[in-house]
Amino acid sequence: MKRLDEKIAVITGGAEGIGFAIARKMAIEGATVILSDIQKRKGEMMAQSLRDCGYPAVFHYCDVAKYRDVTDLINTVVKQFGRVDILVNNAAISIGGMPIYEMTLEEWDKLISVNLNSVFYGCKSVLPHMIASGGGVIISLASAQGHIGLDGWTAYAGAKGAIMSMSRQMAVEFGIHNIRVNTISPGTIDTPMNKQVIDQLGSHYADTDIKMHPIGRIGKPEEVAEAAVYLASDLAGFTTGIDLKVDGGLTCTPRFVPELFEPKAE
Ligand SMILES: NC(=O)c1ccc[n+]([C@@H]2O[C@H](COP(=O)([O-])OP(=O)(O)OC[C@H]3O[C@@H](n4cnc5c(N)ncnc54)[C@H](O)[C@@H]3O)[C@@H](O)[C@H]2O)c1
Repeated sequence: MKRLDEKIAVITGGAEGIGFAIARKMAIEGATVILSDIQKRKGEMMAQSLRDCGYPAVFHYCDVAKYRDVTDLINTVVKQFGRVDILVNNAAISIGGMPIYEMTLEEWDKLISVNLNSVFYGCKSVLPHMIASGGGVIISLASAQGHIGLDGWTAYAGAKGAIMSMSRQMAVEFGIHNIRVNTISPGTIDTPMNKQVIDQLGSHYADTDIKMHPIGRIGKPEEVAEAAVYLASDLAGFTTGIDLKVDGGLTCTPRFVPELFEPKAE
């Protein structure tokens, strides 16, 4: 008996990074996984790579910033598989590294659409089906950024903090329907998003970032995926309304790291 046998799991942003690691680990644990992403070719390739290993996996295109895409995704899965047991709101983008007053209105709107509206769209679409089918699990990816500050990431941190509050609220509201709602807050994880941040902030940031994690390294996507499998499984049946930190101790430390703020040589 595997931990997620017979479960139907939808993962947004599942083509790479943490999302794909979650899809893979959930599939290994017996779930049928529906990967969704805006990267159509990559998503289809990754779903095929799971099928090649004998796991049931399909890909659906879905831009989480578009309500219609998200409802279509959920409705298609319910039509095809009968229900959604697990929704992982994972897709997000990183726009930051600048003071909030330099952020354009377009950048703000884009970040909030992809990182926060998406969670509303996902929950709004899936909850009626979960209530009808007798329960479910919603897991959303928050961040260490939702707990502690780092210069330049106000908007990203705001979206992640809101996701945690919304999830606690929904845990209270929908527990009666056997629906558990939790978040995961990763520290820095080795994914394409992290590479993009390093490209933006400069290679010196990679070393600094490692130093900020008491465990002495950044995390692996599989380590976040393990937390997601646990929260999705019946072993976590009494766990709802929590934020599970998978951050190598990052949020236990004062995060100010002087060399981050040294003026760059001209
Ligand atoms: N990597 C980290 O250090 C880190 C730390 C804390 C939290 N997180 C959170 O974990 C989650 C996954 O991050 P990651 O590092 O794997 O990111 P990533 O950029 O490596 O992968 C994100 C995936 O989401 C997809 N995506 C982007 N915009 C989308 C959209 N509009 N609709 C659908 N899919 C879209 C991308 O195509 C990609 O496949 C995010 O919520 C992120 O904020 C990541």
